Amino acid sequence: MTVLVTGGAGYIGSVVVDQLVGRGDSVVVIDNLSRSPEPNLPNDVAFVHADVGDIDTVRDTVDRFEVDSCVHLAGLIAVGESTGDPGLYFENNVAQVVRLLRTLTHGAVRRFVFSSSAAVYGDAAEMPITERQSLRPTSPYGWSKMIVEQMLEMHDRADGLRSVSLRYFNAAGATTTRHERHDPETHLIPLALRAALDADRSLTVFGNDYPTPDGTAIRDYIHVEDLVAAHLLALDYLRDGGETIQLNLGTGSGHSVLEVIAALERALGQPVAFEIGPRRAGDPPALVASPERALEVFGWYPTQSSLDQIVEWVVASGS
Ligand code: UFG
Repeated sequence: MTVLVTGGAGYIGSVVVDQLVGRGDSVVVIDNLSRSPEPNLPNDVAFVHADVGDIDTVRDTVDRFEVDSCVHLAGLIAVGESTGDPGLYFENNVAQVVRLLRTLTHGAVRRFVFSSSAAVYGDAAEMPITERQSLRPTSPYGWSKMIVEQMLEMHDRADGLRSVSLRYFNAAGATTTRHERHDPETHLIPLALRAALDADRSLTVFGNDYPTPDGTAIRDYIHVEDLVAAHLLALDYLRDGGETIQLNLGTGSGHSVLEVIAALERALGQPVAFEIGPRRAGDPPALVASPERALEVFGWYPTQSSLDQIVEWVVASGS
């Protein structure tokens, strides 16, 4: 049987593919390449260039490769962009997924791992955030992830589709072969690195008037290898008959934008040029996970995700 990885050409998806193939799973990738370059996939991984909402192509792929599980990462990811163009996010992250889930559940797929986000919590009332906290997204991006989580609950009851929604905090860092890259790049660590390495660039820190110790926003940065390891554990959990569940993937420690810049400066041994600008729309002041439920449910905990480990990888790989 085969695992369908949607978004397998992307930053996190390509590491998911590497780890699945590395442990012997059969994998097929669907990606529309709207925000990723042509993928560099392991030899035995088939690639299908399509939208996840393309019913005929998804149905054909599921039949041809005998797909029984899906890891769904395809989607748009920029909080700021989503506030300016909510329809783009609802089309890509919700409408396409409506069709994907109908196609999969009309076929034989009953296991689904979903790339959700800490953005579902919005302005969280308490830190660290547990999965019991109420969901109050502050951006269309966060709403799009929350809506899909709710759709998955209903597909569970109606179709027996068991799912794990993985609420990513801030994925960061590189592997020996995969680097953090997005098009367009909106993420703090790659933009800070560019500002350090290219004298013509500078980083804008989005707001220094947040209610945090240094005034800049706090996030929980998690190394991509740790994040991806949870996807494999989630698949195993579902294969063992696990129930539909939502889990945070973070470290339990938050770092401000200025702390990230300082860590990068230490690792590089040179300054990062930055200026203070206004807040970015849709950005909550702080997002820090309680990762305890993922530990309880399937023994996951991050081992490579201190801020210094993350930035050292970034500096070593140059991106
Ligand atoms: N930031 C800056 N300047 C920049 C870019 C970012 O100050 O040029 C700040 C942001 O305001 C934020 C922090 O750095 O406070 C991290 O921003 P990123 O854009 O790197 O990441 P986000 O926190 O906005 O979003 C990421 C993922 C989302 C996910 C979220 C969960 O892109 O998909 O983490 O925490 F929902």
